Amino acid sequence: MTRKLFVTTALPYANAPFHVGHMMEYIQADIWVRFQRMRTNDDGSPMEVHFVCADDAHGAPIMIAAEKAGLTPQAFVAQIADGRKQYLDGFHIGFDNWHSTDAPENHALAQDIYRALREQGLIDVRSVEQFYDPVKGMFLPDRYIKGECPKCGTKDQYGDNCENCGAVYSATDLKHPYSTLTGAAPVRKSSDHYFFKLSSPRCVDFLKEWTTTAGTLQPEVLNKIKEWFAVDADGRAGLNDWDISRDAPYFGIEIPDAPGKYFYVWLDAPVGYLASLKSHFAKLGRDDFDAFMADPQVEQIHFIGKDIITFHTLFWPAMLHFSGRKTPAHINVHGFLQVSGEKMSKSRGTGISPLKYLELGMNAEWLRYYIAAKLNAHVEDIDFNPDDFMARVNSDLVGKYINIASRAAGFLTKRFGGQLSADVGVEGRVLLDGLRAHRATVAALYEDREFAKALREVMLLADRVNEYVDQNKPWELARVAGQEAVLHDVCTVCIEAFRVLTIYLKPVLPALTAQVEAFLRVAPMNFADADRALGAHPIGEYAHLMQRVDAKQLDALLAPPVIELPPPGGEPIAPEIKVDDFAKIDLRIAHITECARVEGSTKLLRLTLDVGEGKMRNVFSGIQSAYTPEQLVGKFTVVVANLAPRKMKFGVSEGMVLAASHADEAEPGLYILEPWAGATPGMRVR
Ligand code: 2FM
Ligand code: ZN
Repeated sequence: MTRKLFVTTALPYANAPFHVGHMMEYIQADIWVRFQRMRTNDDGSPMEVHFVCADDAHGAPIMIAAEKAGLTPQAFVAQIADGRKQYLDGFHIGFDNWHSTDAPENHALAQDIYRALREQGLIDVRSVEQFYDPVKGMFLPDRYIKGECPKCGTKDQYGDNCENCGAVYSATDLKHPYSTLTGAAPVRKSSDHYFFKLSSPRCVDFLKEWTTTAGTLQPEVLNKIKEWFAVDADGRAGLNDWDISRDAPYFGIEIPDAPGKYFYVWLDAPVGYLASLKSHFAKLGRDDFDAFMADPQVEQIHFIGKDIITFHTLFWPAMLHFSGRKTPAHINVHGFLQVSGEKMSKSRGTGISPLKYLELGMNAEWLRYYIAAKLNAHVEDIDFNPDDFMARVNSDLVGKYINIASRAAGFLTKRFGGQLSADVGVEGRVLLDGLRAHRATVAALYEDREFAKALREVMLLADRVNEYVDQNKPWELARVAGQEAVLHDVCTVCIEAFRVLTIYLKPVLPALTAQVEAFLRVAPMNFADADRALGAHPIGEYAHLMQRVDAKQLDALLAPPVIELPPPGGEPIAPEIKVDDFAKIDLRIAHITECARVEGSTKLLRLTLDVGEGKMRNVFSGIQSAYTPEQLVGKFTVVVANLAPRKMKFGVSEGMVLAASHADEAEPGLYILEPWAGATPGMRVR
């Protein structure tokens, strides 16, 4: 058989750095892809595998986040994209290409698909009434509308359900709704929306067939979908037409022949899979993207989370099919990653930061191994549990597997010049053959995404090897004269066994395997290499391959982040003073009797102050940017009355009025102090 694989993970929104949930999905898909890359087709040729991803760049939340950051959406998305590499490299995720849904390929492909759907008569235009923010001049997605719960009256509830009483309703049911963007009361406004006619019998029939094609979906996913297809009491099938348009302003792709209308982000997001592959082909200098996508041999495979099943099992296959394209071969859905049994929450500081993990010097392959040891082919949530993590890494990965090499390698180097023995005894051969006999099982488990089972299998094999070591006791053989040949054999068996186990673990531990390959002086290993013995072969010097996890590292990883607040007002509080120091400053209430701009100065105002002394004071103050003279005349304020007079370019200043501002001049705002009503000129402030 010859396989051609086109594999993707879900495209992450370009509005935040990766969280550990992203890394779990990438690790799952990466392990599967690396496994495929270690196999060959039946004719021995390498398997063709393309593994791509991209930033999901469009949509209202990204547009609004960019605006808040003072950036164009393009610049905002580019900034997020720049941060991706450290995570992907750090956790050894081997995408062939990372692209963006805002790239030109995606604009063209999304528009092509839309035109094809329109030609098929599957696009409808209908007027839709929605909330509109008159201040912002845009239609409001539900998440930007809050108001009072129509049932219990709780304030500040979102437009879908009430956090207090649990009532479910639509945004238009809210009492006293307001836009969270501007605070304005939204108005109802109609506009034309474009719909993909998913409810049409053609679409429903196609989807019923596609979703039930054997091997396309996991059984539990199919069960969920069957509920959506269910016919309701009025005899209507459960599929609704899908609203695929949004009105300007929107960060997205323009809909052809529909000025001011953009594709809803979920229309062009999955098209980004194709765009990323197309850009990958271009980088390879391949001009056969269309032929590849039409090739019946190509399997298009999407790894996704359970929250985005509808998009990938209804909308996306229908878009592909009715635009004359091939549909995905498999949608591989996984559950969520929890931490110590809790859903991750950024606000509560739970969860694991992938970057912090790396910064703490924790080995990325510990996490790859741990996640793999928990994953299966079902839509089940998996739990990151620190004790379990320690146990699996320290006892299994290091204790059982790595130790095999460290127990034998030293003797080989010291006693046998690093040369493996040409042949090993019967017992050793039986052991190695036993390990090799599991190759097909391990491979099948990887293929089926039953990674936990695959690793359990490998650890059982490692147990067998360790039993062999314990029985043969190389450390004792090394002390007995005349046992050289046996020692050589036993150590050779250990290294051969270690090599076979390393092949089985290579999809999970690519960086470690590269070290092992260097140590064994062998070319990059594939699955078939498990069956061949190295024979008399020189190996390199053994260097320790993997540390154990230190509990302190896990404590640090899981400690809630220390939130560093900026100093108040932008500057730290000044060094402590005594009350006597404060008493030296004579603060008095002053009445501003006159105020004028200072000719020749853009900063200063001249204030005439009555401080109750029977004479006026002249004070210059740098507050022209914040106040007009008219605003100040007649007001009361506070002045430092015993400040030595200062000669300035424009005259002598006899005091200083008090005003509040941020230390950073770029921060707007300057606010003069004003006493409560009743204070009279000359009163001391203390
Ligand atoms: O849920 C999400 O994070 C989406 N950005 C996933 C998109 S997957 C694909 F369709 F692009
Ligand atoms: Zn309520």
